[in-house]
Amino acid sequence: MKKIIVAIDGYSSCGKSTMAKALAKYAGYTYIDTGAMYRAVALYGISKKIITKDNIDEVRLRTELDNIHIGFIKSGEQQHTTLNGEDVESKIRTMEVADGASRVSTIGFVRKHLVALQQKMGEQKGIVMDGRDITTVVFPNAELKIFVTAAPETRAQRRFDELKEKGDNVIYEDILKQVIERDYRDSHRSESPLTQTADSMLLDNTNLNKEEQFELIKTWFNNAVKE
Ligand code: DC
Repeated sequence: MKKIIVAIDGYSSCGKSTMAKALAKYAGYTYIDTGAMYRAVALYGISKKIITKDNIDEVRLRTELDNIHIGFIKSGEQQHTTLNGEDVESKIRTMEVADGASRVSTIGFVRKHLVALQQKMGEQKGIVMDGRDITTVVFPNAELKIFVTAAPETRAQRRFDELKEKGDNVIYEDILKQVIERDYRDSHRSESPLTQTADSMLLDNTNLNKEEQFELIKTWFNNAVKE
């Protein structure tokens, strides 16, 4: 069976990564979470005060990009993100870092740097990569492209439940507001805005459970490796 690249794009908190991970496991492929890479850059920037609440020092960020080493390690069944050797998986999942990542991802030189790393990771194929520009910029020739979406309220509720379960004291309305703001920023920025390509399979999971989604993706995947 031939090895392919599976490129997945979609809005925040629509269950992309859960699905991408399940597909990678099924296929025996490597899963790459590109959102985690933007989050790691944001975490670095915040910790060095390059990124503050209302400013990003782009000159400093540019000079420090080569000091930001991002990796992925296995932690039991999970995949964790590392930043300069430190496991930062839980640190990059806060609302502050999500906001920083969304802002940092609008900067052209940051995207160029991360896209080059991502393309290198896909050289041998056999990967499932998710993000916002994977089907459009990183792997426009991927053998299988999927665009995932769900209603903003559904996504905000899922995110709220996740954060609550982690013990975070969050308010649903704040999360919905952040989801809508990030959607707008992700799809209206001048650098690689989130868009569905004509050849992407559309997965709207507002009314689908995980099993139903997985059945669809498995079918798409099996067709793509056969072709
Ligand atoms: O998928 P996520 O929420 O972890 O992504 C964090 C931020 O990074 C989000 O605002 C969108 C941005 N991003 C991007 O611009 N391009 C990607 N390939 C992945 C994420």
